[in-house]
Amino acid sequence: MTKKWWKESVVYQIYPRSFMDSNGDGIGDIQGIISKLDYLKKLGIDVVWLSPVYESPNDDNGYDISNYKKVLDEFGTMADWEEMLQEMHKRDMKLVMDLVVNHSSDEHGWFVESRKSKDNPYRDYYIWREGKDGKEPNNWESVFSGSAWEYDDSTGEYFLHIFSKKQPDLNWENPKLREEIYDMMKFWLHKGIDGFRMDVINFISKVPGLPDAPNPEGKSFASGHEYFMNGPRIHEFLQEMNREVLSHYDIMTVGEMPGVTPDEAVLYTGEDRDELNMVFQFEHMDVDSGPGGKWDVIPFDLVKLKTILTKWQTGLHGKGWNSLYWNNHDQPRIVSRLGDDGEYRVKSAKMLATLLHLMQGTAYIYQGEELGMTNVRFSSIDEYMDIETLNMYREKRSQGKDHHEIMKSIYVKGRDNARTPMQWNSNNHGGFTVGEPWIKSNPNYKDINAEEALQDPGSVFFHYQKLISLRKEHEIIPYGTFELHYADHPSVYAYTRAYGNERILVLCNVSGDQQVIENIASFDTTKADVLITNEEQHSKDAFTLKPWEATAYYLKG
Ligand code: NOJ
Repeated sequence: MTKKWWKESVVYQIYPRSFMDSNGDGIGDIQGIISKLDYLKKLGIDVVWLSPVYESPNDDNGYDISNYKKVLDEFGTMADWEEMLQEMHKRDMKLVMDLVVNHSSDEHGWFVESRKSKDNPYRDYYIWREGKDGKEPNNWESVFSGSAWEYDDSTGEYFLHIFSKKQPDLNWENPKLREEIYDMMKFWLHKGIDGFRMDVINFISKVPGLPDAPNPEGKSFASGHEYFMNGPRIHEFLQEMNREVLSHYDIMTVGEMPGVTPDEAVLYTGEDRDELNMVFQFEHMDVDSGPGGKWDVIPFDLVKLKTILTKWQTGLHGKGWNSLYWNNHDQPRIVSRLGDDGEYRVKSAKMLATLLHLMQGTAYIYQGEELGMTNVRFSSIDEYMDIETLNMYREKRSQGKDHHEIMKSIYVKGRDNARTPMQWNSNNHGGFTVGEPWIKSNPNYKDINAEEALQDPGSVFFHYQKLISLRKEHEIIPYGTFELHYADHPSVYAYTRAYGNERILVLCNVSGDQQVIENIASFDTTKADVLITNEEQHSKDAFTLKPWEATAYYLKG
């Protein structure tokens, strides 16, 4: 397997709106980010993935871009952005920018032109269709509820939007559009960025004819997805992008790809494929979703999680590359989701970090995860800001669903769980802003914050710091093989890694009860060193695991 810097890296994701506000307007900004780079350096991360900072009307917090080459005023100026890049590079940190090119904002100049007339030169930058029998052109649904089509009066046709109606899908069938995108990518690469995280990039090729989805009722994900995910020209488009742009730079590329399988991921990331470096897949994020999809919350099943993660570990080994993550700006906080955000918050957050970070793949940390930040419960729906949550709430209410039931699912799965302001200290709003934050803070910032964590050697922060440094010290972590043990155990997650004459055993108790397991015959812990543990007094008897314990052993020779 070829060694690459991006395989050995740990990426920290910044959601700029909620990270740090420098000017008191309640919205995080670029100067705020600059002021926290030393904090990130201390954590030890190598790469920052910055969620969109481009000009945007913020229907979907920046994932609806109205100008790809401009910085949003609320975040600062291009000069601020350039200073940020310089300050990152000075600290040996790389910057990966978000690339959102499945769709733009409806306020982008291209769309403003496109909707004007059927013969406008920009018409084919988007996907326009006539209605069918006075209705939408097909039965595809938007990921954000309702139809994926919006009727536009000016020309009497519908445009496709897989996300909100302010996010019209770009038409990748049009070579001129593709060229514009490649030019825009070069614009940022010439400024010196180190890569792209590509938003829903496996949605850009749609099945020609845009056929109706069969059995549209009761789908777990927007109906029609089989016609817009991993479509027929996707590999051709990515290979073209690679040839035209990516191959000319030493950069990191990660494709966000809902619905991708390990076999498909090998096609996207195989070294002989000339497409992308790694995928960001979602299968493990569906572990607590029922047949009704994301909002249909079911109890978490560890055995199912093990099956999924193992499939990805073994399916990509030597053939492709994966991302390791628990959190991002779309997911609830992992300590609330799979751990215990009460009594065992610190311990279970460290256990989850260990479980993830000692596997193969490029590791990601989402802002606040390193503090063990938790989900939030706002009492009123009016306090929620996320378009996906609000659209879903409205749709379910109009279908007569009970308010409290819907709120329960929002508490567990809503994206705003991840978007509350970063908790820096115990000042008002966790020190995120001296003004009024755009979204309410999680009231637990008084106890859970960075200042507190940095004063406590036993904090979640320092556990992450240690995991990051282990990845740098031991090649076995990025490159070793993976083997799962106790596949059917409902509470213990155990695996070994192997690389040359080195081995690691990771034992995690994913429960609040003590677990006793049989010896793993192939690994003699009495000869091993403890690599990392979340137990203060780690017992010599390796096979009694205390509540939420995670201990990893290292053996050489
Ligand atoms: C995925 C992004 O992560 C999410 O935040 C966004 O809403 C959709 N793509 C649409 O851009």
